[in-house]
Amino acid sequence: MVAIAHEEVLHVHHWNDSLFSFRTTRDASLRFRNGQFVMVGLDTATRPILRAYSIASANHEEHLEFFSIKVPNGPLTSKLQNLKVGDKVLVSRKPTGTLLLDDLNPGKRLWLLATGTGLAPFLSLVKDPEMYEQFEQIILVHGVRRVRDLSYRLMIENELPKHEYLGEQISKQLLYLPTVTREAFKTQGRITTLINSGQITEALGLAPLNTADDRFMLCGSPAMLDDLCTLLDARGFEVSPGIGEPGDYVIERAFAERG
Ligand code: A2P
Repeated sequence: MVAIAHEEVLHVHHWNDSLFSFRTTRDASLRFRNGQFVMVGLDTATRPILRAYSIASANHEEHLEFFSIKVPNGPLTSKLQNLKVGDKVLVSRKPTGTLLLDDLNPGKRLWLLATGTGLAPFLSLVKDPEMYEQFEQIILVHGVRRVRDLSYRLMIENELPKHEYLGEQISKQLLYLPTVTREAFKTQGRITTLINSGQITEALGLAPLNTADDRFMLCGSPAMLDDLCTLLDARGFEVSPGIGEPGDYVIERAFAERG
């Protein structure tokens, strides 16, 4: 089996001047767990350029979806942002990653905490039926600079609750908390600030965070991950030490920022 497949671009969506998503065909042999990432890239005249990308579609869907920033002069994203329907992209055959439901201790609430394109793996996980079996409530928190960076907001708010198979569970169990840091919005502030102030639960009318009930998956910039880990550790939550070793929370860096 070859390590890399050529997939065809089926759809491209530009959210704004710095964020876009694209959909590709999915080789029938590609199996993955929701929350994992693959290497995605392009052939160039000299050599292929590949970067890690979380898969934003669920493993029961026929296509693959990826969510990316556009890094000015970024070796890959400056080219990838020009993708057109029918173009070919490289997708590796070896999904991996640490945002695995199996690596979370039992709990009642699962917090999916994302900044920027760190949202991508959670777009896959919110369509995972297992997640709704394992947790009573799932809270997807997306932190961005500006309101226009709240990609997928309409899909999350309007389409997911009408999902063909999971709509009922999603309507009952999934909460969405978008938060904006550099513009006026109904919820404002960094995720870390919202946790420290208690607003993260108050904004949704939920009981305060506690180690018995709450579990977390984190995906964002290295600084966001560092700060959140420090904060969760101080509150007594234990990080999963590695794949196959459960903890109260698991983390993954949002990759595309490397260009
Ligand atoms: P801020 O606007 O205060 O920097 P970016 O686009 O830089 O990845 O940021 C996405 C979101 O993540 C922004 O709202 C940003 O807030 C926030 N952010 C940046 N650094 C941290 C951090 N260390 N902890 C929590 N949130 C962060």
